[in-house]
Amino acid sequence: MSYEHMLFEVKDGIALVTFNRPDALNALSPELVEEFADILDRVARDETVAVAVLTGAGKAFVAGADIKAMKKFTSLEVRQYVSRVHDILFKIESLPQPVLAAVNGFCLGGGNEIALACDFVYASEKARFGQPEINLGIIPGFGGTQRLPRLVGKSLAKELCMTGEMLMGDDVLRVGLANKIFPADRLMEETMKTAGIIASKGRLSVRTVKQLIDRGAQIDLRAATALETEAFTTVFSSDDAQEGLTAFIEKRDPEFKGTFSG
Ligand code: CAA
Repeated sequence: MSYEHMLFEVKDGIALVTFNRPDALNALSPELVEEFADILDRVARDETVAVAVLTGAGKAFVAGADIKAMKKFTSLEVRQYVSRVHDILFKIESLPQPVLAAVNGFCLGGGNEIALACDFVYASEKARFGQPEINLGIIPGFGGTQRLPRLVGKSLAKELCMTGEMLMGDDVLRVGLANKIFPADRLMEETMKTAGIIASKGRLSVRTVKQLIDRGAQIDLRAATALETEAFTTVFSSDDAQEGLTAFIEKRDPEFKGTFSG
């Protein structure tokens, strides 16, 4: 598939995925959504990709669902549209590789819902986060009423979804929508630096951490720690674990290969 509304490149184990409809603030048209889904499928299949980074071209990360396209939808079409995007956000969560969001600007409605499905978010000082659907007489439709309270708590999620207020800067950090905030001109460099650090680690350990934290959050603590015990035992048997432990003892840097001979 060729892409009209997305940019995609893989370099040094990092997939850089850019929402690229800057004239419409990267709004999620049905066409863009299908291109994004195709890219996620390619990432899932590509063993050379260790980490994916999502960002936006222009002054937005993503300004949400495409309001102009949505206005023309029938109820059936709107149901298909929101269900499709839900599936795509679950695709992000079920990718074996971590997905980081580098939020460069407006991160609203469906844009914030994409960021919420990522493993973690870095943001520019210019970024504005919010669920402004209430101003359109609608509600969040891509998981905002569900993933947002799980991250920031019910009370703040209700306030954001009921007022449509946008957060930026320290407020974004305080509520945990982003882990770090950078000046706009350093956002990509810092995000790629972190992506590079993760790409240099043992692939099995990175992927297992993602899965364990996500799956563990859905179940009770005892069952979750049992999962960790099983996963620890598996990771411990990997070549990378032997290399990491040996390198520490030999006082040298480890060379992880992502291979498994358990
Ligand atoms: N859908 C379609 N087009 C959009 C859009 C969107 N979500 N957001 C911006 N655009 C378009 C504008 O219509 C405009 O196009 P034209 O030049 O053809 O008029 C262009 O992008 C630039 O936008 P603005 O001129 O409005 O830029 P601004 O800097 O003045 O304002 C903004 C920026 C505050 C983000 C404003 O564009 C805005 O409020 N956008 C809508 C944000 C929003 O409500 N998002 C939620 C969408 S609904 C949703 O996401 C539901 C869901 O979960 C399923």
